[in-house]
Amino acid sequence: MSVLIAPSVLAADFANLEKEVKMLNTSQADWLHIDIMDGVFVPNISFGIPVTEAIKRYAQKPLDVHLMIVQPEKYVEAFHKAGASIISVHIEACAHLHRNIQQIKSLGIKAGVAVNPHTSVAQLENIIQDIDLVCLMSVNPGFGGQKFIELTYEKVRQLKAMIKASGSQALIEIDGGVNQHNAKALIDAGADVLVAGNFVFSASNPPEVIASLKAL
Ligand code: DX5
Ligand code: ZN
Repeated sequence: MSVLIAPSVLAADFANLEKEVKMLNTSQADWLHIDIMDGVFVPNISFGIPVTEAIKRYAQKPLDVHLMIVQPEKYVEAFHKAGASIISVHIEACAHLHRNIQQIKSLGIKAGVAVNPHTSVAQLENIIQDIDLVCLMSVNPGFGGQKFIELTYEKVRQLKAMIKASGSQALIEIDGGVNQHNAKALIDAGADVLVAGNFVFSASNPPEVIASLKAL
């Protein structure tokens, strides 16, 4: 399977969302990554349910919703209704992660777990068989355009080994600071999905950047 590319709409021009989403529709992007921040779990606020619905109105690709919020169980259904195909919740925000994952799966969509840079992937051992995606944060969540944390390579390798040993089908998604310098090494380490925000949207030709990642 070739690597999946999920451009992060957080880095798009919010005043021209229709144009940006249509650009992604005609590009080689596989998913649209949707970053939801509540100003509590992370020190920033992005956008919420109405904007996700607006993106969905034009999007022809799956919406990969990354909830950087506390008490995600309160909003999972609303994001499903807004058009999410995948919803990831943070392990650090969930005291009852297994219940949160079952809630997402009961809606008939894919469930993911996101892990902060300081969280060991070993903490996923008892949930890995139940999930479709691990969103491995390669920056501290809250902002686009941050520097990639090098420890991520080792975490990808550890996670890949755990997934293989357990027979889980979970995909490994890398989120934060992905660019031309680290993408190939991430794929070689075992990454299945690359999120890219600034690397895609700050380029003069975003579809070309997406195609270059896709070709790795
Ligand atoms: C960070 C977000 C990321 C971010 C990635 O909190 O979860 O998805 O948009 O942006 P770049 O690729 O610019 O680091
Ligand atoms: Zn994200």
